[in-house]
Amino acid sequence: MSQTLFVNATLASMQGNSGYGLQQQAALLVDGDRIAWIGDMTARPRDDSIEIVDCEQRLLTPGLVDCHTHLIYGGDRADEFEMRLEGASYAEIAARGGGILATVHATRQASEEELFAEALPRIRALLGEGVTTLEIKSGYGLDSATEIKMLRVAARLERDLGVRIQKTFLGAHALPPEYEGHADAYIDLVCEEMLPQAQHEGLVDAVDVFIESIAFSLEQGERVLARAQDLGLPVKAHVEQLSDLGGAAMAAARGALSVDHLEYLAPADVAHLADNGTVAVLLPGAFYVLRETQLPPIAALRERRVPMALATDANPGSSPLHSLLLIMNMACTLFRMTPAEALRGVTVNAARALGMDREIGTLETGKKADIVVWNLQRPAMLSYRVGVNPCRAVMQAGRWRS
Ligand code: NIG
Ligand code: FE
Repeated sequence: MSQTLFVNATLASMQGNSGYGLQQQAALLVDGDRIAWIGDMTARPRDDSIEIVDCEQRLLTPGLVDCHTHLIYGGDRADEFEMRLEGASYAEIAARGGGILATVHATRQASEEELFAEALPRIRALLGEGVTTLEIKSGYGLDSATEIKMLRVAARLERDLGVRIQKTFLGAHALPPEYEGHADAYIDLVCEEMLPQAQHEGLVDAVDVFIESIAFSLEQGERVLARAQDLGLPVKAHVEQLSDLGGAAMAAARGALSVDHLEYLAPADVAHLADNGTVAVLLPGAFYVLRETQLPPIAALRERRVPMALATDANPGSSPLHSLLLIMNMACTLFRMTPAEALRGVTVNAARALGMDREIGTLETGKKADIVVWNLQRPAMLSYRVGVNPCRAVMQAGRWRS
């Protein structure tokens, strides 16, 4: 099995409960697809058969993790972008049958091949900045066939690009037009037909639901999560994005991996996340695009030591963004998070949000060798500069990405 030894590296290992876990003058040994050893340069293994990579003091981080995306979809919503510039709100556009439903219409029309081809440049943009694991949700089909079509595209992207993808079923993302006025009947369909079918095809790693005035009620959301858990699947939820319906407390009480968005989360409800080990996934891209002014309760999350993750939320409506580095910068400038919190948000805490933290998220002996070499010396630079991609090389599970 091939071995690679990184020498003269500055490691942001992301080990420990805060900060970067920084190690200067470090060496790291990869054996096969895993990290086999990390230590001081002076103690490095010396064996002529090992391939040596001299990092010349460059920064090494774990592969980045984008733990919340909707990047498979048909069409675009540039018209809604223009409508919002003329004063319409996201919720008003949704109420008029636009928003998520406009994308549902386009996604139903698109072939699997078209969805794949359209998703490629989006996912490549993420990978080019050091992403080695991402999550992709369904949720623009709202019928069995289209939800399954989307998840198949996600599975094919994983196979063809050699990147790790968590496939999340989001059948309860919006009420499809054919069920207008019959939300409970649609939830029955999601629970009894759509989700079991998608799971039967081996296409579901986790289940999500959108609990919001423009989507589903707390009770409907809980039914979906309960059904998913009956089927043995991990759960997460879009909650408290536009209003406070109590979704975060409900999902956390059910042991959700993460609750996502959270601008309207009451600081008092942060305790539910802390008590249940639920990750807070913050999405500054959607906050920025929708010109939200209500900030998520960062101080309360920090105080209760709730792990905060960050993600692009890449989607055609609220967050047409495909740069995790830009998201880190936004987390610092808009949410006043520190650069260390931002990097933890796209590594160790994002891995936790996917339930994958035993395998990925830190540079640590025994974990998968997902490693990014940056043309940088200091980790704060990742959040600081915008528009210059400092990614030099990416190793995914021990193999260099070409
Ligand atoms: O995370 N909040 C719900 N879903 C997406 C938006 C989807 C869309 O507008 O197409 C989000 O913001
Ligand atoms: Fe989302």
